[in-house]
Amino acid sequence: MLSNVAAAVLLAPLLSSVANAFPPSYGGSGKNSVGKAIYILGNDADNTVISLPIKSDGTVSHGSKTSTGGQGSNIATNGDTAMSQAPDSLGSQGAVAVSGKYVFAVNAGSNSLSMFEAYDERDSSKLRLLGKPAHLPGEFPVTVGASEKHQLACVGFSGAKAGVSCVPYSGRGLGHADALRPFDLGQTTPPNSTLNLVGSTIFSGNEDYVYTTVRGTNGFLSSFPVEFFGKVSEKGARPITNFKRTLFGAESLPGTDKVVVADTVIGADILTVDHQKASIEEVTISGQKATCWVTASEKTGSGYATDAGVNRLVEFDLDSGKIIKILNLNNGNPGMFDAAVAGNYIYALYAGNGTLPGTVTVFDTKGQKGYLKQVQVYNLEGMGVTPNAIGMAVMA
Ligand SMILES: *[C@@H]1O[C@H](CO)[C@@H](O)[C@H](O)[C@H]1NC(C)=O
Ligand SMILES: *[C@@H]1O[C@H](CO)[C@@H](O)[C@H](O)[C@H]1NC(C)=O
Repeated sequence: MLSNVAAAVLLAPLLSSVANAFPPSYGGSGKNSVGKAIYILGNDADNTVISLPIKSDGTVSHGSKTSTGGQGSNIATNGDTAMSQAPDSLGSQGAVAVSGKYVFAVNAGSNSLSMFEAYDERDSSKLRLLGKPAHLPGEFPVTVGASEKHQLACVGFSGAKAGVSCVPYSGRGLGHADALRPFDLGQTTPPNSTLNLVGSTIFSGNEDYVYTTVRGTNGFLSSFPVEFFGKVSEKGARPITNFKRTLFGAESLPGTDKVVVADTVIGADILTVDHQKASIEEVTISGQKATCWVTASEKTGSGYATDAGVNRLVEFDLDSGKIIKILNLNNGNPGMFDAAVAGNYIYALYAGNGTLPGTVTVFDTKGQKGYLKQVQVYNLEGMGVTPNAIGMAVMA
């Protein structure tokens, strides 16, 4: 007779091939105190995802670099198409996304989306590309949000064909992208950094709406409802229009109608969104320079903002909007970009600038409001990361 362990080992390949018939075996809940792995988009011409495993103490270690099968690209600095913006190559939050044991990555240079499976439950940094990248109807994809509930990945585009398109997925890979829901940003491909740009495409806390932030003159929040059988409506609403500050990186708070958004003018905004309209609570971070990315923790009830121009992590209360803690850092980074929470830990990227190396800074929250300590600064040079790197996603 087989022992349970031997039976589980023999069944594992079978189970993964029929993954859709079962609830995912790991990931998603975020209730554990330590996540499994982090993912960053390489965004070089030959695009890759850089993945690092998370150890039991929350710190990261050397991992792998997996080809997306597509190409990266860069925003044109100050509209000069000969000058590639790096770091902050895509000017977005969420260039990579995780849903269950799957990872999604945008290819801004080849207008496609790649999907990977973290196939080894003992080391979720090991990725396998599923099928070919899905061709997308927009230009210059910069951000992707994924829904496990609807088995959908929705992509935001900042190029000449700007807007949102959604792609269904299954355990076998990506299906066909739906038609572009266009945004009139007046952009070029690659986009001009002085004009409006898409910040983030995410799902709402109940995963039933697709939200996209657009920043710049007359910025807005776009909302498209998910209808029957995972089809996203072509008719959207703009719960926020003509926004005079900036709606940049955004994250939904699971199970709520709240969205926390980075705002490079004042710091952050906590939105309560109901598709047609949104109320806005301002989070004023004094001395901020370029607060472009935010993340949030269900455990602490706090939001955490990074700043490309000030090297600190700012914790604020998600109910009152009050600043809880400002953790100033002295680790050689000029600032931090995209960030994500897994369990008690926060992972933030600095992509490097050619002289300074790219790093991931790891923070421990102990799951408590107001507790915030830097526990690691991981140098990404050994992973072959260039200043083109962008995005941060975690597998819980
Ligand atoms: C970028 O946009 C600015 C502001 O409208 C404009 O002056 C500039 O010519 C644009 N650059 C390109 C390459 O289109
Ligand atoms: C990188 O950033 C550091 C600190 O801000 C600065 O001294 C250095 O000149 C920058 N390097 C490049 C190539 O921009």
